[in-house]
Amino acid sequence: MPTRTSDVLVVGGGIIGLVTAWRAAQRGFSTAVLDPEPGGGAAQVAAGMLAAVTELHYGEQTLLALNLASAQRYPDFAAELTDLTGLDLGYRRCGTLAVALDADDRAHLRELHALQHQSGLDSEWLSGRECRRLEPMLAPGVRGGLRVDGDHQVDPRRLAGALVAACERAGVVLHRTWAERLTVERDRATGVLTREGEVLGAGQVVLAGGSLSGQLKGVPDDVLPPVRPVKGQVLRLTVPERHAPFLNRTVRAVVRGSHVYLVPRENGELVVGATSEELGWDTTVTAGGVYELLRDAHELVPGITELPLTETRAGLRPGSPDNAPLLGPTALPGLLLATGHYRNGVLLTPVTGDALAHALSTGELPDEARPFTPKRFGAGALVEQSV
Ligand code: GLY
Repeated sequence: MPTRTSDVLVVGGGIIGLVTAWRAAQRGFSTAVLDPEPGGGAAQVAAGMLAAVTELHYGEQTLLALNLASAQRYPDFAAELTDLTGLDLGYRRCGTLAVALDADDRAHLRELHALQHQSGLDSEWLSGRECRRLEPMLAPGVRGGLRVDGDHQVDPRRLAGALVAACERAGVVLHRTWAERLTVERDRATGVLTREGEVLGAGQVVLAGGSLSGQLKGVPDDVLPPVRPVKGQVLRLTVPERHAPFLNRTVRAVVRGSHVYLVPRENGELVVGATSEELGWDTTVTAGGVYELLRDAHELVPGITELPLTETRAGLRPGSPDNAPLLGPTALPGLLLATGHYRNGVLLTPVTGDALAHALSTGELPDEARPFTPKRFGAGALVEQSV
């Protein structure tokens, strides 16, 4: 028998689990979150780019629509959280400049520009000189770039802190422990058994465990989300007053096939990311990872080597077979998913909260989230390994 029950129990207290819990509580559900460290997870590592336009990929137009819907919600979402908690999220409408260093990069960027244009997105092609006029610290070798004024940033650590505070204010109960297994009775999810052996009952359970979401025991195989960890190493540097402003906007590039981005915060932090490695649960920061990021960032912005390196860290993106999230009801009554956000977890936080609150209230996803039903993977979907 459950010792404590709630209408909604969210397994996982990263930003996706927290936004789901907060929005559920706002709709009048008694809500609990289960996580040993609410507000932790990938958001503690992520750079926080809101890059719907600059991270557009061929074949991901459906995801683009969701990304844009979430980007549009960010100003109100950030203002609501700040009003409620008094905490600033570091939401900065700074725009992004994607640049090319050689002829191959330039061709790649031209293709991206064409795709953006076909998709009705705003981006402007700039010469190398025009790029350097915007960002004087750029290397003289920059051959051209795309100015995207609509791709902004938020500080994911601040976002996570504000969501914890918002949840607490909304009366969400935070159980600071691990989930041992999902409890299922008569083909319905009924709650979770904690590591300490306590049974927490719930009318509906939302599995929002990031890259760990596919590991929860007790979830039937055909419902278990096909998510996998994709490691990203990220560096944090500090821009001393005398160098400010070092960069005015996010600067990014593809260097020798690897993505590198530099995200300047208003408080002087400069985030440099990120590797993309399929190494299971490994979160080691390696000399090779740090070397490659600094080498590529230095090619873009040579002055970076003057800055103090203040933090190195690795996190795990929850990758899904089609790089898109799994949202809403599963084939197991009482169990919903909010996971698989891969490279877009921070961007998709507002729309995920809204979609899950709608699904918890009505049993249906709202129109914009319908393509992301977990049911698209069908029974027994296998985790697809990327190559
Ligand atoms: N969206 C940036 C990353 O996943 O590295």
